[in-house]
Amino acid sequence: DASDAEKGAYPFYMMKEIDEQPAVLRRLTQEYANLDGSFSFDAELLAELQASDRIYIVACGTSYNAGWASKNALEAMMNIPVEVHLSSELGYHMPLLSSKPFFIFLTQSGETADSRQVLVKVNELGYPSLTITNVAGSTLSREAKYTVLLHAGPEIAVASTKAYTAQITVLNLLAKAYGNQNGVKAAKEFDVVHELGLTATAMEAVITEKETIESSVKSILASTRNAFYIGRGEDYYVAMEAALKLKEISYIQAEGFAAGELKHGTIALIEKGTPVFGLINDEVTGPHTRGNLKEVESRGAETFVISSESLAKVGDQLILADVHPYCRALLAVVPTQLIAYYASLHRGYDVDKPRNLAKAVTVE
Ligand code: G6P
Repeated sequence: DASDAEKGAYPFYMMKEIDEQPAVLRRLTQEYANLDGSFSFDAELLAELQASDRIYIVACGTSYNAGWASKNALEAMMNIPVEVHLSSELGYHMPLLSSKPFFIFLTQSGETADSRQVLVKVNELGYPSLTITNVAGSTLSREAKYTVLLHAGPEIAVASTKAYTAQITVLNLLAKAYGNQNGVKAAKEFDVVHELGLTATAMEAVITEKETIESSVKSILASTRNAFYIGRGEDYYVAMEAALKLKEISYIQAEGFAAGELKHGTIALIEKGTPVFGLINDEVTGPHTRGNLKEVESRGAETFVISSESLAKVGDQLILADVHPYCRALLAVVPTQLIAYYASLHRGYDVDKPRNLAKAVTVE
């Protein structure tokens, strides 16, 4: 659809694409979840997954981070172990594989050479593969045994946003379809259509709070050299993507860190005014991450807390609605995309076209 590729009133595609995410979630629900409770995934694909003993997710960049953010839900609803690998590492060294591996390639463009290199090997070895991509007819889509489309509409900004949330959404839907069919309790109990609907609405609420995020960003990211995102579990996976986004377009040296590891080295970097964003969306790990935030504050860090409602404390900078654990990354990533956007904007950069980066990297 040509109109999809137009910015309209938006100064940058990235903001348009951030705003589109709730609609993408709803579109994917319609696309893959049928009204009668069934799902429209290839029956052969589901059968082949059922015959496998381990899933290997292979991807680069933001798609790699989406793999991590999907891992827990996949394992819970499919009852199959999931490994997440960087294409550019797996391409040179295949780890010891399980006896019946199934490969999932996550790639917005479907053209990333590092990922294709692995797919070529997987095909040579004769293992089954699925490409989850935004581009029908792309190289990785043609060369994998199965394809599932992201239906996110064209993503123009170099920094990926809606493809990340679309990938997690599709994997949630696929895991639900698989788990339902195979009688996995966690899948049966997950009302995917309802939960994704709630998540889309919660995303809209964050997007409405854009200006609050913009003004905080202006004060804490205007001139800093570095910044940290910390979290545990799912929040750590989101922290990885949040830091990547910030690096890509604002050129701030950013790290996404497992909060518990801070004290084992990285805390040495904290000085007066260092921005530290804490993600608190999990009831088990949230209190521990809060403890880590106290530690960095006492060393002068400027903290910014993104917390889900039921875990929020007075003074937290941004409150997110409580959503299902499998949907938490989908929601929590949105404010971090906005933080990166405004950091880039106020530091005077071209948000959509960061230096040194390409939308699709077709060389190894
Ligand atoms: C490039 C882009 C990233 C993207 C990565 C993987 O480096 O700049 O935004 O995440 O490639 O791309 P893919 O199309 O395979 O998801």
